[in-house]
Amino acid sequence: MLEHLTVVKHPLVQHKLTIMRDKETSTNSFRRLLREISQLLAYEITREMEMTTTRIETPICAMDAPTIDGKKLALISILRAGNGLLDGVLELIPAARVGFVGLYRDPETLQPVQYYYKVPDLRERLTIALDPMLATGNSSAAAIDLLKKSGATNIRFMCLLAAPEGVARMKEAHPDVPIVTAAVDSHLNDHGYIVPGLGDAGDRMFGTK
Ligand code: URA
Repeated sequence: MLEHLTVVKHPLVQHKLTIMRDKETSTNSFRRLLREISQLLAYEITREMEMTTTRIETPICAMDAPTIDGKKLALISILRAGNGLLDGVLELIPAARVGFVGLYRDPETLQPVQYYYKVPDLRERLTIALDPMLATGNSSAAAIDLLKKSGATNIRFMCLLAAPEGVARMKEAHPDVPIVTAAVDSHLNDHGYIVPGLGDAGDRMFGTK
């Protein structure tokens, strides 16, 4: 079983993350590094997938060789920054089904409001939700609520950076959803940004402001 929180401390992940945090890093490099780290995080988050065997013939003899068991997994991008993780993970797991969740924060109630939702059949499927920044955790927890309503029972959450506030919020709302991240930073500032963080992940990967 994955722990509720796994911080991937591998030197390659940490080195790439440091370059991503640097405000001088270009959009182009930021995107490439995010794709690379997403594959290293995917390696970790899929570690305990169920396996079976299939009978094959090598050029030498027959063997029962290991394969992944069950339905194809589902990758859910939490828009828009989730798309930066999606590309790399899909490269590694090209047969995955893909869904999208769009949420914005209502400026008055501060509650997440859904503006887009399209997901594959999630029943009996390992479902990996993707969002680079786990900040307050409110929109992530709301996205997981939606996935559970769609029948997902085996969900994992991948992010690049997490704030302790977001980890705590997810643990309270969804203790059954393991989180895999590259780092847990110090805190959130008054604007809801992770400190020291890397700024707005969507702006940095798409070159917007
Ligand atoms: N979303 C971001 O893109 N960055 C943060 O620091 C927090 C939320």
